[in-house]
Amino acid sequence: MSDDPVHGRIHHVASVVRDIDAAIDFHVRVLGLTLEQAVDVPSQEVRIAFLTAGDSKIELVSPLNETSGVARFLAAKGEGFHHLCLEVVDLGAELRRLKAGGIQLINAEPVPGVEGPVAFLHPKSCNGVLIELIEGPGGPAWAHLGYGDPGQLRLS
Ligand code: CO
Repeated sequence: MSDDPVHGRIHHVASVVRDIDAAIDFHVRVLGLTLEQAVDVPSQEVRIAFLTAGDSKIELVSPLNETSGVARFLAAKGEGFHHLCLEVVDLGAELRRLKAGGIQLINAEPVPGVEGPVAFLHPKSCNGVLIELIEGPGGPAWAHLGYGDPGQLRLS
C-alpha cells in the first residue's frame, strides 16, 4: 500500500451505522478487515471508525446523540451507504476548478478531517451521491490547516 497521493483513488466508502461497536466487530471478525482507528468527532456529533480494505478504507459513522445530522439521516433512511471519498493531490485547487465548472460545493474550502483535509460536494451535482474529497498526505492544505507532520495524524 502506497502513501503517495493518487488523483481519484477511492480513499474510503462510508456507511452510517446504529451501533458502531457491533459494526466494527462485524468488519473485523466476520469480514477480516483491520481496525485503523475509532474516534469521537465532537464537532460533527459522531463517532467514526476507519478500517483498512486493501488500498482503500471503510468508514463507519454513528451519531453521538439524537439530534445530529447523522442521527437525522439514520431516522429518515436507516443504516447504509452515506458517502464516497476520492483522493486528490491539491484540494484547494481542485475545489476552485470544480466551482468554476459549476459544481455545487458543500465546503468551498478544505476543512479538517480525521484523516486529512476534506471537502464535500453536493449530491445534486454528483448524480445523487454525496462525494467527499480528501487531500493526499503532505499536500498544501495539510500545512495550511496546521496538521504539521502528515505521519502524526494517521496514527492518532
Ligand atoms: Co468520509
